[in-house]
Amino acid sequence: MFPFLLLLLSFITFSSQPFSATSDTIYDNFAYCLTRNGIPSNQISKILYSPSNSSFSSVLDAYVRNKRLNTPTTRKPSIIVTPLQVQHIQAAILCTKGTGLQLNIRSGGHDFEGLSYVSDVPFIILDLFNLRSINVDTATETAWVQAGATLGELYYRIWEKSNILGFPAGLCPTVGVGGHISGGGYGSLLRRYGLTVDNVLDAQIIDVNGRVLDRKAMGEDLFWAIRGGGGASFGVVLAYRIRLVRVPEIHTVFNVQKTEAENATDVLYKWQNIADKIDNDLFIRVLVQPITGKVKGQKIIRLTFMGHFLGDANRLISVMNIGFPELGLKRSDCLETSWIDTMLWWYKYKIGTAKEVLLSRAYDQLIFLKRKSDYVQNPIPKDGLVSLFKKMVQLGKTGLVFNPYGGRMSEIPENETPFPHRAGIIFKIQYSVNWEDADPNLINQYVGEARNLYSFMTPFVSKNPRQAFLNYRDLDIGTTDNGKNSYNEGQVYGVKYFKNNFDRLVKVKTMVDPQNFFRNEQSIPTLNLQTSKGRKGRK
Ligand SMILES: Cc1cc2nc3c(=O)[nH]c(=O)nc-3n(C[C@H](O)[C@H](O)[C@H](O)COP(=O)(O)OP(=O)(O)OC[C@H]3O[C@@H](n4cnc5c(N)ncnc54)[C@H](O)[C@@H]3O)c2cc1C
Ligand SMILES: *[C@@H]1O[C@H](CO)[C@@H](O)[C@H](O)[C@H]1NC(C)=O
Ligand SMILES: *[C@@H]1O[C@H](CO)[C@@H](O)[C@H](O)[C@H]1NC(C)=O
Repeated sequence: MFPFLLLLLSFITFSSQPFSATSDTIYDNFAYCLTRNGIPSNQISKILYSPSNSSFSSVLDAYVRNKRLNTPTTRKPSIIVTPLQVQHIQAAILCTKGTGLQLNIRSGGHDFEGLSYVSDVPFIILDLFNLRSINVDTATETAWVQAGATLGELYYRIWEKSNILGFPAGLCPTVGVGGHISGGGYGSLLRRYGLTVDNVLDAQIIDVNGRVLDRKAMGEDLFWAIRGGGGASFGVVLAYRIRLVRVPEIHTVFNVQKTEAENATDVLYKWQNIADKIDNDLFIRVLVQPITGKVKGQKIIRLTFMGHFLGDANRLISVMNIGFPELGLKRSDCLETSWIDTMLWWYKYKIGTAKEVLLSRAYDQLIFLKRKSDYVQNPIPKDGLVSLFKKMVQLGKTGLVFNPYGGRMSEIPENETPFPHRAGIIFKIQYSVNWEDADPNLINQYVGEARNLYSFMTPFVSKNPRQAFLNYRDLDIGTTDNGKNSYNEGQVYGVKYFKNNFDRLVKVKTMVDPQNFFRNEQSIPTLNLQTSKGRKGRK
């Protein structure tokens, strides 16, 4: 019942606004305000777009990564600001206040619910794609990277300067640094080096008053919050300083598939018992997918085991022979390569492809999609796996991705960063459904399918709370309208994303942004909005 209601609501509230004089008035007022804040008009004409600008749509669409959130009826921003320098961001924050509109910050636009470029309420996009400088310092093995850079650009700049350094972050090169790091961030190095946020040393943020703050100036509470609590509730993250990690010269990757006819159930059962405990240099992801089998029209389940090992193939084979012989990994399944090439491999580029593809901001996979997440703390029993495969074949479209934890992840306390999914987690599940046909009925059908599978998984996953990964944004788990119930609403999704860290995030939020200027449908609520209505004195 609840999810259907949500879907209905989102259909109504994301409805289009006719372009009218309103947008032009907002444009004019905003431009005037920027002038008053010291931005010369020849710069304003380069960074400010209203819907009547001819390039408005192309600027908007350039970093939309989910067609489901960019249909003809989707609400469009009232204006878009594309800052070229820090001063433009400072002025944009101050000028947005005067409009009363919501400010949606966008770096790479990969948010699965489009929270950087879609909203229930009228809004402005602050688009950071121009702010993407990267400074790699091999002497200190650190780098400063601006929010608008992509992971691919970061990896490329590290590789350019060093072949012994790498960085533990996501596996898709077009993901933006701003959303990725502020939301946690993980990749195939996580069992050895932890999350992206476990390797952040400093940051620069622009706060609600337009001040640029580094770690020292912002203080440890805010610095803690923007390492996994989501940047969008706290300010505009301008840059992070990251600690690079030493990687071996030789990495080994493999891709091995199993169907049910090849003992998939047994192999996956065993995987659950070793994936988080095996050598920390080994990360084995599993894709569980319904595919069309040899008999026409008949679906079967196929498992794809994708492994990344920080070492050579001989050592990998001996680790596998001891820990996971059931997969039957052979030397001929293994590809020895470099760290930078593993990043190409994960994104389905052939190893040996020119590294410059990592610099490409073009997105060749624009489709409709829905994602959800879960965490598993106890192995799913064999009969559970059998019933899961059956369910997935019935549904037909939704796939699952299992990502193992353990290793470094279990050594870090739950409250070290806002990201709480640490010790005791065997693996994370991503629910994934993609489609290409624009028929609006398919949105209901496929989103409904993913929700159906999520509901089926209830007995097998974490409970009280049912944990979720912030970077796999999912509005089904709760939203806020930023009104007087925002604390209670926020707590619903907040404890799923952050467990006990939620209340500390609320405290930081209340301290740095008491008027809740930085807000969206899943932001961290402020306490004062509630206390002013009822519970007085609880600040
Ligand atoms: C194809 C694909 C592959 C992915 N692979 C991985 C993966 O391997 N590992 C992983 O951890 N995640 C992965 N993700 C999820 C990804 O990390 C998150 O969607 C992340 O938030 C995207 O960051 P972005 O800057 O591109 O997104 P955006 O949509 O620009 O932003 C996401 C959120 O962060 C806020 N935000 C963005 N920039 C700033 C800023 N500078 N200051 C304050 N707030 C900001 C936005 O307002 C929004 O709420 C993947 C996503 C996609 C689409
Ligand atoms: C948007 O349109 C206005 C009015 O025509 C123009 O002055 C401005 O340069 C345009 N902005 C951009 C970024 O092209
Ligand atoms: C499946 O498992 C059985 C028993 O463990 C084994 O005999 C058989 O060879 C396996 N089949 C495949 C295709 O691996």
